[in-house]
Amino acid sequence: MSVKRSKTESTYISVDPKEASIKEVHQLLLGGVAPRPIALVSTISKKGINNLAPFSFFNAFGANPPIVAFSPSRRGHDGTTKDTLNNLREIKQCVIQAVTHDMVEQASLSSTEYEPEIDEFIKSGFTPIPSDLIKPMRVKESPFHMECEVLQIVPLGDKNASGNLVICEVIRFHFHPEIFKDGIIEPNLIDLVGRNSSNYYTRASGEAIFSITKPIGKKGIGFDNLPVFVKQSHVLTANNLGQLANCESIPSQDEMDSFVNSTGTTADTGDIYISSFIFKSLDEMIPIAVTRWKNKHDEAKDFLEITAKKALDNKKPDVAWKLLLLSNRE
Ligand SMILES: Cc1cc2nc3c(=O)[nH]c(=O)nc-3n(C[C@H](O)[C@H](O)[C@H](O)COP(=O)(O)O)c2cc1C
Repeated sequence: MSVKRSKTESTYISVDPKEASIKEVHQLLLGGVAPRPIALVSTISKKGINNLAPFSFFNAFGANPPIVAFSPSRRGHDGTTKDTLNNLREIKQCVIQAVTHDMVEQASLSSTEYEPEIDEFIKSGFTPIPSDLIKPMRVKESPFHMECEVLQIVPLGDKNASGNLVICEVIRFHFHPEIFKDGIIEPNLIDLVGRNSSNYYTRASGEAIFSITKPIGKKGIGFDNLPVFVKQSHVLTANNLGQLANCESIPSQDEMDSFVNSTGTTADTGDIYISSFIFKSLDEMIPIAVTRWKNKHDEAKDFLEITAKKALDNKKPDVAWKLLLLSNRE
């Protein structure tokens, strides 16, 4: 790979895609645009042969009408087009199914370049079931299907590895009720996989899943309004600062006073060290930290900042703000 020094930042390696090989450019995209959802695409040839292949250059682009798109590229080694694209040029319909952890090996198997006469449902061991509105079959093993009509195929070049954007309108959704909870497809129930660089995949469930509170219709104060002492904290992370900047206001003097007055004090025995303090619960930490501040303890600021971080980790930014403001008060 022909590597350049970034003109603006010496810590980056900069690459001109025109000077790199196709493989290198492909790997940069695979690694940096990741994890990508995987579309397991079912098509049918004019002769009636079922075709199945996974595509991770894939996403959704609108809800009204529901639009999804994926890109079957020309083959990297000889520039020929893939069976999926050839089929779609003839019969402009496909089913896109989600790929879950239980079926990822079979989905990977379906990426094998079998000849167009081979039914890839049979090769990959997936069970074909009929669609409601279109000719291509659905994959029974997937809990989420989209029957699609192709609106447009946009060639993105005519060389080896050039993409072909297939833009589809979803005309019917199908999903298993078991993946649905409280009005949404629940990530731990559907257990999707995503594609990363090389042979790497991501399993989108368990510890990989977390939530970020982003209440609709509110405007956070922004990073620029964070006090300097907060930005310079050695305890808070960039994500913690983001949570604080996402709050609409900083607690007022009155709110601070009532927080201090309403927080019960504890007997400060002097034998609580930071090393044991960090393992306590937020409810135990707050009175200890506030008591140390009231007693002008040498390490009161550290105790308050660590407690503020715990409050942020517990998604209580309002409490964190109060603790932080206190840490800066005499
Ligand atoms: C997880 C995964 C994702 C893939 N994503 C793409 C992709 O986005 N575009 C592409 O052209 N090929 C992709 N491939 C490779 C195709 O699946 C492969 O070339 C397949 O043989 C195409 O089948 P077809 O000739 O039946 O259309 C991917 C393979 C795997 C395993």
